[in-house]
Amino acid sequence: MYIGLDQGTTSTRAILFDKDFGIIHEARREFKQIYPKEGWVEHNPDDIWQTVVEVLEECKRVADSKGEKIEVIGITNQRETVVAWDAESKRTLYNAIVWQCRRTAERSSYLRKEYGTEIKRRTGLVVDPYFSATKMEWLIENVPDVKEAYNKGTLRFGTIDTFLAWKLTGKHVTDYSNASRTMLFNIKTLDWDDELLSLFNIRREFLPQVVDTAQLIGYTEDGIPVASLVGDQQAALFGQTAFQKGDIKCTLGTGSFILMNTGSDLITSEHNLLTTIGWKIKDELTYALEGSVFITGTLVNYLIRNLGFAKDSSELTELALQVGNNGGIYFVPALTGIGAPYWDPYARGLIIGLTPGTDKRHIIYAAFEGIAFSVGQLVMLMEKESSIKVNTLKVDGGVSKNNLIMQILSDVVGSVVERPVNRETTALGAATLAAMALGIVDKKKLQEIRKIDRIFTPKQSREEEFGKWKQAVNRALSWES
Ligand code: G3P
Repeated sequence: MYIGLDQGTTSTRAILFDKDFGIIHEARREFKQIYPKEGWVEHNPDDIWQTVVEVLEECKRVADSKGEKIEVIGITNQRETVVAWDAESKRTLYNAIVWQCRRTAERSSYLRKEYGTEIKRRTGLVVDPYFSATKMEWLIENVPDVKEAYNKGTLRFGTIDTFLAWKLTGKHVTDYSNASRTMLFNIKTLDWDDELLSLFNIRREFLPQVVDTAQLIGYTEDGIPVASLVGDQQAALFGQTAFQKGDIKCTLGTGSFILMNTGSDLITSEHNLLTTIGWKIKDELTYALEGSVFITGTLVNYLIRNLGFAKDSSELTELALQVGNNGGIYFVPALTGIGAPYWDPYARGLIIGLTPGTDKRHIIYAAFEGIAFSVGQLVMLMEKESSIKVNTLKVDGGVSKNNLIMQILSDVVGSVVERPVNRETTALGAATLAAMALGIVDKKKLQEIRKIDRIFTPKQSREEEFGKWKQAVNRALSWES
């Protein structure tokens, strides 16, 4: 049996797969989100580690009870989040600074102005507090223990994959997909970039060795091979069998992450999409274009919990279907700023078009459109930048269960939206990559086992609504500054 260990932003999950990648068991633990200040987000690395130990133990017990053994573990993770520890004392030196954390917003604005073009040329990324580099710099400058380890030369940095690989196998490694999210990695030379290291005052020895995405890393204490590290969005791209240039997936979870496989072509975006590494497996290096929407599932929860519009998401859908249109309302889900293609941390959520005839059902419908339009906008940009027409958009993640949102998405993009039966594509991708590293399976296996749950085809034009929604977005920009 194989384990796909998915260390995410709000929970850690281990999925136990049988040799045909059927799901045998899912172990899941949530952990505390720490918000020390407005806009700051941290995790306690010890909490994360504890959840990892527990979910792995649970899966091992299930495998044992079936008389089976775990052949390999693949690790996939929330990306960009940074952990610092001391190589000598083996102690972590501060909480993990999470990808969502905005503490380096001011520094990032300065860097974007001064060095934005050059940083993008080297890393494929738009300078933003989202990425790891300014978080590492902040740790060195603000945490005395980190500074001390820095001076002694015993400081070690890692994204979550690196932290877990170190805890599980003792190795200080990351893979290409995760390295490409740090804003320190040159995606052309495939090495840490010396100019950027010096800009951020980070020494090479603090950073992990970069290894292939499917590669034996080492063994756990009880002798199980760990054979893949992969960023969660890239894992989902792989798990969705998006192996060909032009294949595209969108994971609709807390936020939405859209990745298009661009093969060996490194496409530099002119519309603020990111260029990133999908995976490197031996001599296959796959690049991807990426766009992120920060708020998706969060908006559904917001309608339920904060606005009290319904008790759950199916009731929300029922209400939206009762009206069947937005009644002239537009909802911009920029609750924590807006990502691609605007990259405006100062944008805020907006509901516009209210009239005496508006009721909550129109607002729900408009919120669903807001989710689908945010994703659709990025898919269409990717089509433009890659000159590849998207025929099929592969979706996964919790919000992909919502048929109405998926239909609106298909309408606005004008493409087929395809939802697989197994929506656990992230863990599936990591487990498959790990099994591939040991030569147990190949990509074909994933294609063979893939089953489609539902296909959505375009039914009506949403051009007018989409145009109005983009106007609304322009009004939501720079609200806080
Ligand atoms: O880039 C951030 C992303 O990797 C987080 O994913 O699924 O933990 O919200 P998730």
